[in-house]
Amino acid sequence: MWSHEVPSAPNIAIVGVTGAVGQEFLRVIDQRNLPFDNLKLLASARSAGKQVEYQGKTYTVEELTEDSFGDVDIALFSAGGSISKKLGPVAAEAGAVVIDNSSAFRMDPNVPLVVPEVNPEAVQGIEVGNGGSGSSGGGIIANPNCSTIIMLVPVTPLHKAARVKRMVVSTYQAASGAGQAAMDELELQSKEVLEGKAPTCNIFPFQYAFNLFSHNSDIGDDGYNTEETKMVKESHKIWNDTSVGITTTCVRVPVMRAHAESINLEFEHPLDEEEAKRILSEAPGVSIIDDRGGKRFPTPLDASHQDDIYVGRIRNDQSRKQVAGHGIDLFVCGDQLRKGAALNAVQIAELLLAGVPAV
Ligand SMILES: NC(=O)c1ccc[n+]([C@@H]2O[C@H](COP(=O)([O-])OP(=O)(O)OC[C@H]3O[C@@H](n4cnc5c(N)ncnc54)[C@H](OP(=O)(O)O)[C@@H]3O)[C@@H](O)[C@H]2O)c1
Repeated sequence: MWSHEVPSAPNIAIVGVTGAVGQEFLRVIDQRNLPFDNLKLLASARSAGKQVEYQGKTYTVEELTEDSFGDVDIALFSAGGSISKKLGPVAAEAGAVVIDNSSAFRMDPNVPLVVPEVNPEAVQGIEVGNGGSGSSGGGIIANPNCSTIIMLVPVTPLHKAARVKRMVVSTYQAASGAGQAAMDELELQSKEVLEGKAPTCNIFPFQYAFNLFSHNSDIGDDGYNTEETKMVKESHKIWNDTSVGITTTCVRVPVMRAHAESINLEFEHPLDEEEAKRILSEAPGVSIIDDRGGKRFPTPLDASHQDDIYVGRIRNDQSRKQVAGHGIDLFVCGDQLRKGAALNAVQIAELLLAGVPAV
């Protein structure tokens, strides 16, 4: 039960609306008919004044400031970690529920880290509908890293069935994961290389087109980059279980949009490929493309602009024959701008507006 009325059409702000995730927010809100009363489009001073045609109306992008949130019920943040750190708490203090796409609050023990198909109950206690009052309510909810979401949507139902003891994951991550400027640079470089010119390297320090490289995030003392570490720590938090062994290798590939992941799972209890397929065929947010005869399996293009995570190459891990049914391999593809960012955040907003299931 809510302590006050949840608005049927909240006031929504999109912070970072001109970016890759921000633009996807507009598409997802429209396609899912997320109800809203007022819509505030926020970005940097560079974009202030830009006109955006949306749902038959003209909106003007406003410069993000500390005063942007007075009448906002839900603030969808995707303008980078430093902006979230600085203004997320300001928005929450003003009474908005902040749904944040950056890594700023993900590991904060007081901030729920939510994938609606996996742990919807984690948003319990956060209420929409105090925008403008500044009295109570508001709060911050974190959207997990895109690679974490794409992995956990299909793996969680298998985990629930047979408990994952250890998983080994390799990612093949698209340019869109690094924002609009990285997508633009991949397109430019592809043309330049085909024309025999030297590639322009502004976003990444070396050639990206027709190449691949270890994920560009910082490397820690343990040799893992921060993208890899996020996948491990966030999964532990979302599953509320730090005992699952997880090791990851994250790689950037010259794909424009949608990440792929190779996932090897070791289970505590037996689970063979037939049962895995059955479970995945019923799992929310999952579609299977797994035609061995036709050699037809998920590709990033299949997943681009789609809501579901596509799963294929579902097979028994032959290296674990001695413990039959205790290992499965998967290949998954998911649109990280969509389920990895904007869609997941909008689903969280829908959850809040519908009322969270009691635990
Ligand atoms: N791309 C993904 O797949 C993905 C997935 C999950 C999470 N995320 C996270 O989402 C955030 C945005 O990523 P993106 O890929 O959309 O980046 P992007 O394409 O580079 O867009 C960045 C957005 O932030 C705005 N911005 C930058 N500095 C600002 C400032 N000082 N004040 C107000 N707005 C400012 C930009 O506005 P201007 O146009 O005015 O500069 C733009 O709207 C990041 O935290 C990223 O880690 C991204």
